[in-house]
Amino acid sequence: MKYFIKTFGCQMNVHDSEKLAGMLENLGYVSTNTVNDADVIVFNTCCIRDGVEQKILGNIGALKKLKKKNPNLIIAICGCMTQAEGRDKLIFEKFPFVDIIFGTHNIHLLKDYITKFNESRKKIDDVWEKENGIYENIDIVRDNMFSNGWVNINYGCNNFCSYCIVPYVRGRERSRQMSDIIAEVKSLVDSGYRYVTLLGQNVNSYGNDIDDSDVNFANLLKKVAEIPGDFKIKFMTSHPKDLSQQVVDTIKSNDKICKCIHLPIQSGSNAILKSMNRKYTREHYFSLIKMIRDAIPDAYISTDIIVGFPGETEKDFMDTYNLVKEVRFDGVFAFMFSRRSGTVADKMENQIDESVKKDRIHALLQLSKQITKEKNKEIVGKTVSVMAIKNENNECITQTDSGKTVVVNAQLKENVFYNVKIIKFINNKLYAELV
Ligand code: 5AD
Ligand code: SF4
Repeated sequence: MKYFIKTFGCQMNVHDSEKLAGMLENLGYVSTNTVNDADVIVFNTCCIRDGVEQKILGNIGALKKLKKKNPNLIIAICGCMTQAEGRDKLIFEKFPFVDIIFGTHNIHLLKDYITKFNESRKKIDDVWEKENGIYENIDIVRDNMFSNGWVNINYGCNNFCSYCIVPYVRGRERSRQMSDIIAEVKSLVDSGYRYVTLLGQNVNSYGNDIDDSDVNFANLLKKVAEIPGDFKIKFMTSHPKDLSQQVVDTIKSNDKICKCIHLPIQSGSNAILKSMNRKYTREHYFSLIKMIRDAIPDAYISTDIIVGFPGETEKDFMDTYNLVKEVRFDGVFAFMFSRRSGTVADKMENQIDESVKKDRIHALLQLSKQITKEKNKEIVGKTVSVMAIKNENNECITQTDSGKTVVVNAQLKENVFYNVKIIKFINNKLYAELV
């Protein structure tokens, strides 16, 4: 019996899918890469923007013919989209061949749902309104052996940025116990993982819900970095309102912690930031960039930006554009504002035309592409740490901590870190030699 899981959305979902896989393997299912020969299909969904929801609905629709061919096939839909208001009903109505729907708060119950469904063949619709639990001891079948192990540190979000559906579908912020996190990282390192990525909607507020002032993100980073072994630590996402000097100093002073910070600005306009309920200003953001670069001059800083938020004028947009130009981010993820029902921004007047959003995102991405190109040229001559991924011909494809591909003119041991010197940048590709 085989299972197939398709994941939409962010790293949080990617990691949740590894837990879903663990539960299915516990039941004796083995994984398959093709949907056609699966006995159980699980879609782990996302609802951050309307575009992704429409894509998912299209993908669910395409399963109809498989169910016709194999009436014993079990189709389960879970994740953020099913947790959004009314979506479970909508999915069952539109796609009566779906068997099981469950939400983000009860993914730990997949095993029970499958067992129950196998016994009764009765549809299951189990989306919990409110449940802020933390479930440990779920077996995890990890996707990318050695390269990266995801580790949840906190779940949910308390920030209610006015555009964002996440707090509604993932619940309130809750932190895992430090000891559980440390134990998980240790076991990953023991089994050969080279990177661990600490995951939270807002990693900087890790521990805020635990009554012990020593339980905070800086101390967690320190503790994780003390674990012996040849591995590195990444983390995401940081919220600019909570990133502290203490965290930056911790990153600076630990070789094991990657110097990569994903710090979403969302907008460079103070008026829009206020309307987004982001709780910081562009001036504060600039001061954070200075704080990071003073401590770690070659830190890799990436960001998320939303264009076309309600009321965004040309001047507001230019504030964002000029901020990007000034900060010179190493990576920009830009999105067109998408109305999410239930959020504050959905009800705002002055919604922006799609054509204006398209022009703005295009301008921003052009700028960001130009900056990336310049930055790639600037790293020629520098020595960087890479991990060897794959030997090909007489070269080795490697990756920097920030995920840039670097071609090294040598055969290297796979899954091992090396220091290499970047020697050229041609056709958008970086080449290096072993140091
Ligand atoms: N519309 C567009 N982009 C959004 N994001 C979150 N909500 C929305 C929305 N309603 C973006 C933010 C966030 C990233 C994960 O997705 O930039 O940082
Ligand atoms: Fe959404 Fe804001 Fe929470 Fe991030 S911090 S998940 S953007 S509400």
